[in-house]
Amino acid sequence: MKNIVVLVSGGGTNLQRIIDCIDNGEIPNAKISLVVADRACFGLERTDNHNIPTLLIPRGKTFSEELQQILPENTDLIVLAGFLSILNKEFCESFTGKIINIHPALLPKFGGKGMWGNYVHDAVLKGGEKESGATVHFVTPGIDEGEIILQKSFPVSKDETIETLAEKIHEIECEILPKAINNVLELPL
Ligand code: GAR
Repeated sequence: MKNIVVLVSGGGTNLQRIIDCIDNGEIPNAKISLVVADRACFGLERTDNHNIPTLLIPRGKTFSEELQQILPENTDLIVLAGFLSILNKEFCESFTGKIINIHPALLPKFGGKGMWGNYVHDAVLKGGEKESGATVHFVTPGIDEGEIILQKSFPVSKDETIETLAEKIHEIECEILPKAINNVLELPL
């Protein structure tokens, strides 16, 4: 049984997807051993009735150290699912190849500091991009710079808005996140 820790900062739809995929067997032989949030958010409530422990570590300079101290020893994978704090270099390097992030754009484009949620979609529209999509990648000390695990794109249409982009990207995230988790945990796809 693989143990997954999920970090959240927001609505937690990606966390919900992981919970559902574990329940329905799409992510086999795994469990979420802990959900950690860096702020009060709806994501924390997604664990209700699922018997998953949760913890709030307020964002700030000592977040990574505090997380490292409480992280269950048997953690196989840490998933950043809409998580907005930056994990420090020491933390990233202690868990090389074991931390993954989902990003709402086609990295290496539209990544880095300040590029999250609707800021990304806005930048994609303003940049006149012909396509957008989502990426799951390994987390390294450079923000959004780690090796790409899975990525899927779609054409940006002429009448696209931030809302329509967000909706399409949400669908893609639902598809690629469980596949990427299985891939990294070497569970059957
Ligand atoms: C997702 O679209 C995720 O890709 C994005 O935040 C959203 C979280 O939604 N992550 C980033 O922008 C990270 N740079 P959720 O809280 O409903 O899962």
